[in-house]
Amino acid sequence: MYIPYGKQCIDEKDIESVINVLKSDYLTQGPKIREFEEKVANYHGVKYAVALSNGTAALHAAYKVIGLDVDDEFITTPITFAATSNGGLYLGGKPVFVDIDKSDYNIDVTKIEEKITSRTKVITPVSYAGFPVNMEEIKKIANKYNLKIIHDAAHAIGARRNGYSVSDIADMTVLSFHPVKHITCGEGGMILTNNEEYYKKLLLFRTHGITKNIDEMEAKDGPWYYEMQELGYNYRITDIQCALGITQMEKLNGFLCKRNKIAEFYDKNLIKMDWITTPKYFNKDWIDTPLYSNLHKKPNNLCSYHIYPILIKNKSNRRAFVEYMRSSGIYVQVHYIPLHLMPYYKKHFGYKAGDFPIAEDFYEREVSIPIYPDLTEQELNYILNKIYTFKF
Ligand SMILES: Cc1ncc(COP(=O)(O)O)c(C=O)c1O
Repeated sequence: MYIPYGKQCIDEKDIESVINVLKSDYLTQGPKIREFEEKVANYHGVKYAVALSNGTAALHAAYKVIGLDVDDEFITTPITFAATSNGGLYLGGKPVFVDIDKSDYNIDVTKIEEKITSRTKVITPVSYAGFPVNMEEIKKIANKYNLKIIHDAAHAIGARRNGYSVSDIADMTVLSFHPVKHITCGEGGMILTNNEEYYKKLLLFRTHGITKNIDEMEAKDGPWYYEMQELGYNYRITDIQCALGITQMEKLNGFLCKRNKIAEFYDKNLIKMDWITTPKYFNKDWIDTPLYSNLHKKPNNLCSYHIYPILIKNKSNRRAFVEYMRSSGIYVQVHYIPLHLMPYYKKHFGYKAGDFPIAEDFYEREVSIPIYPDLTEQELNYILNKIYTFKF
């Protein structure tokens, strides 16, 4: 038995779609990229989408396009994957962390304002685990101080809060299509935005800063001609990847329903375990539609459950619990080791243990138990049984 904490869900249609591209004329920079972008943009009701090689590249591009420069500060949460901050570090930016909110594990919006300085350019909230961050409050702060918002929604495709989709309020919203995410391209990322200027800059940044659009060129030398107008990267995604993304997108609603059903199963059954705190307990105020059979009518609130984080009330039991679950073939994981405790951050920015006590306490208790659409009833019962029989 081997049950990971997260895993892709691939069917024959996905395989056929990729094979068709392999038989076609274009493996990269063909029609599938645009088709995939349009599908994700339409789903979220946003004007523009730019697909890139991965979510980290997308974050780098978003920070660049927003104008983050050397020594500019960006505000984010310590409970996230390294990529959220790395995108800004690549440009010489300085990460300024804000502790998390106990109620949803996301950045504590009441503590953002005290961290704003004359160097702050952007707020980069993360919708951890798929619980949408309180973007309405963040937008008020951003407006007051003339800051931009990059929403790291790598965990939160399709999620909704207060009637807003994850891409409704931020200047740019970043998605990831790594295999543990809701839909996958193998590797892949995307930026959603309603801003045309950002969109055009993102297209340049994705491919060396080169344009082939004749209307945008300074010179017009001939049909072979292209121009490098900015310094960009090769962050292109392939048609092979996007063909997979397209068929995966067609199943997104089904995947989200399945993830919510699994979450409901855990919520219901783990409530009996008084040594565990489930996310349902924390988020009961705003999760109003955890179970629904289809998503054609979009709910006001929806957690997309990239992961299902539980907290072990007595932190001294956390390590034994993880080891016990793994030895039972259930590959639970911890999300995340707070970024400010990483050696790089201590060395370069002087962060230290004790700086963000809520995030640190959260880290010491957190365990992500398996959640992905292909989990069977038998596997879910096996996981539950193992949790029930854990002795500490
Ligand atoms: C919160 C968050 N942001 C960004 C990323 C980066 O995405 P990618 O792996 O596609 O580069 C991840 C990936 O795990 C993530 O969890």
